[in-house]
Amino acid sequence: MKLRRLLFIMVTLAALLAGCSSSEQNSSGTPAVVVGFSQLGSESGWRIGNTASMEQAAKDWGFGLMLDNANQRQEKQIAAIRSFISYQVDVIVFSPIVETGWENVLREARQANIPVILMDRMLEVDDDSLYTAYIGADFLAEGRRAGQYLLKKADALGADHLNIVEITGTEDSTPMRDRQTGFRSAIEGDGRFTILESVTGDFLRSKGEECMRYLLDKYGPEGIDVVYSHNDEMTLGALKVLEAAGLRPGQDIILISVDGQQEAVDALKAGKINCIAECTPDLGNAVMEMVDALTHGKQVPKRNHPVERVFTEFDDLSGIGARGY
Ligand code: AHR
Repeated sequence: MKLRRLLFIMVTLAALLAGCSSSEQNSSGTPAVVVGFSQLGSESGWRIGNTASMEQAAKDWGFGLMLDNANQRQEKQIAAIRSFISYQVDVIVFSPIVETGWENVLREARQANIPVILMDRMLEVDDDSLYTAYIGADFLAEGRRAGQYLLKKADALGADHLNIVEITGTEDSTPMRDRQTGFRSAIEGDGRFTILESVTGDFLRSKGEECMRYLLDKYGPEGIDVVYSHNDEMTLGALKVLEAAGLRPGQDIILISVDGQQEAVDALKAGKINCIAECTPDLGNAVMEMVDALTHGKQVPKRNHPVERVFTEFDDLSGIGARGY
C-alpha cells in the first residue's frame, strides 16, 4: 500500500514538474502551489469538459495539479483524497459522487490543515466546517427552470393533461436530488401534470437508452407526453430510442434536458429537444481563483454559483456560441 502511494506521488510529481514553467516553481523546483483534485469519473461530455476546464485553469494559474479520476467509485475518491493528504497538497478539490459517507476523510483533511473545496457537487455532513466552500451549479434552480419551461409549453399547447416520465442522474447525488425537487416545485399543484415514473439512468447515455426502452414498452408512445432527463447524455440516448421507434422527438414527445453540451444544443436547434437548462462545466477558473485566495490566507464565500441560463424552443437560439464540450 505504502509503495503504491509512493509510486503515485512520484509519478504525479514528475508529470507536474514536466508541465510547469520555472516561474511557477519554488527554489526546490516543485510547484509553489499544489492542488489535489479528485474527479468522480468521465460519464458525460459535461464531465470531460469539466476536467479539461480544471486542467487548463491550473496551467493558467501556474499551479501543480494532482488529478485522480475515480471512475464512478466513491472508495476511489476517498483513497485519492487520502493520497493528497499524505502528499500534503495545499488545497484539495473534489466532486463528491454521492452526498453521504465523507465525514471521516474530511476530518483527516482538517487534521492535516488542508482546505477542501467541493467542486460541482455538494455533500451532507453534520458539521459544515468540514469543507471550506462549494463552487458549482444551483441544481434546484436548474430543475425549476426545466419545470417553468413545461408550464409555458403546456400553455402554448392548450394542453389539458400531460404525462411525464423522468430519467434521473446518479442516485443520491446532488444534481439528481435537486433537479428532481426543483422540477417538481415548479409544476406542483398544477393538475395538468402527472409524473408517471422516475427511473435512474446514472447520467450515462447507454442507460438513458435502456430507460427509454423500458418506459416506451411500459407506457407505449401514446402514454408518454414528456421526457424530463437530468442530463444531455441520457437525453441523447432516449432520443435515439424514440427515433428508432418511429417517433419524432421534440414533436410527438416533449424532451427536456439539462447541461447544454454541443450535441444536445444541435439537437435543440434541429427541433428534436425542446428545452435545455444550462449547467456549465467551466468551473476551473473560479476554483483556482479560490485556491489562490486560500493560499494567501484570505476568507472565501461558502457557496458560489456560476451564472446559468435556459435554452428553449421559444428562444432565438442563433446566439448560442460553440459550447466547447
Ligand atoms: O454534476 C453535474 C452533472 O454530472 C452533469 O449534469 C452531468 O452531465 C454530469 O455527469
